[in-house]
Amino acid sequence: MSALDAKAAALLRWYGEMGVDASVGASPCDLTALPDTRAPASQPTGRPQPSATQAEPARPQPPRETPRPAPTRATAPLPLGGDAAIVDARTVADRAANLMQLRELLQRFDGCALKHTATNLVFADGNPDARIMLVGEAPGADEDRQGLPFVGRSGRLLDRMLAGIGLVRQGVYITNILPWRAPGNRQPTAGEIAVCLPFLERHIVLKAPSLLILCGGTSAKSVLGTTEGITRLRGRWRDHPVPGLATPVPTMAIYHPAYLLRQPAMKRDAWRDLLRIKERLDQQG
Ligand code: URA
Repeated sequence: MSALDAKAAALLRWYGEMGVDASVGASPCDLTALPDTRAPASQPTGRPQPSATQAEPARPQPPRETPRPAPTRATAPLPLGGDAAIVDARTVADRAANLMQLRELLQRFDGCALKHTATNLVFADGNPDARIMLVGEAPGADEDRQGLPFVGRSGRLLDRMLAGIGLVRQGVYITNILPWRAPGNRQPTAGEIAVCLPFLERHIVLKAPSLLILCGGTSAKSVLGTTEGITRLRGRWRDHPVPGLATPVPTMAIYHPAYLLRQPAMKRDAWRDLLRIKERLDQQG
C-alpha cells in the first residue's frame, strides 16, 4: 500500500469511527480540488500583508468550511415539504389493501429524503399472522444492509428478550417507525417521523395485531402522540385507538434494546414488562 493509500485508509477508518459511514452524493467529490473560495484573511494585528514576492509559495489548503459539492443531476424528485408531504404520505398509504401492497407503495414513495441515502427499505420481519406487533425506531447499519429490522446488536438482545418469555422471531411481527436508515444513525427528525407515520399507521391497521409493543421512547411517543418520556410510558397497558380498526389495540411501551445495552441495570424493569406481556398473551389463550 502506498503512503497515499494508507492515508486515505486511515481517513476512511476515522470517518467510520466518527459515524460518517454513508455517502450522500451520487458521485464522489474531491474537496481538495475545489477552488479555495475563502475571503482573504483579515490582519487583526494591523501588520502589512506580505507582498507577492515575500509570500511563501502557495500550498494547497484544505477549505476551512466544507464547500457544497457542485450539484449533480437530480436522480429523484424533491420531497414535498411539511404538511403537504404528510398529506401525500397518508393518501399513498391508505391505498394499500394488504401488507404486500403497502411495502410496494412505500418502496415507490419519494416523500422522505432518507430513502435516497439508505441502501434498502426495511419493511418488516417475522410472522404477519402473529398476535404481537413490535415497533422499533429506525434501521441501523446492519438492518440497512440486510433490509430487515433488528438484525444487529440490539436485534440480538431483542431475540433474547423474546426468548425469555417463550417467543421466537417467527412468533412475532417486527417493524419500525422509519423504514429507512438515517445517515450515520443520527436521530430521525420530527419531519421524517411525521412523513413516515401514515405508513406505520396503515401498517398497524393491515396487520391488526392483538398486542402492540412499542420499543423505546421515539416509537412510543410517535405512536401514542405524546411527549411523555419512556420512563413514564413503559410497562403500562393502554387501549390505543387506531383509526381504521374497530377496537383499540392493547399497547405497551418497553425500553429499547439499544438502551438496555447501554444501561444494563434497566433490564430488571424490562424483564417485568416482558412478564406483563407474557401474562396478557396467556390470558388471551
Ligand atoms: N433499532 C431499531 O429501533 N430498529 C431496528 O431495526 C434496529 C435497531
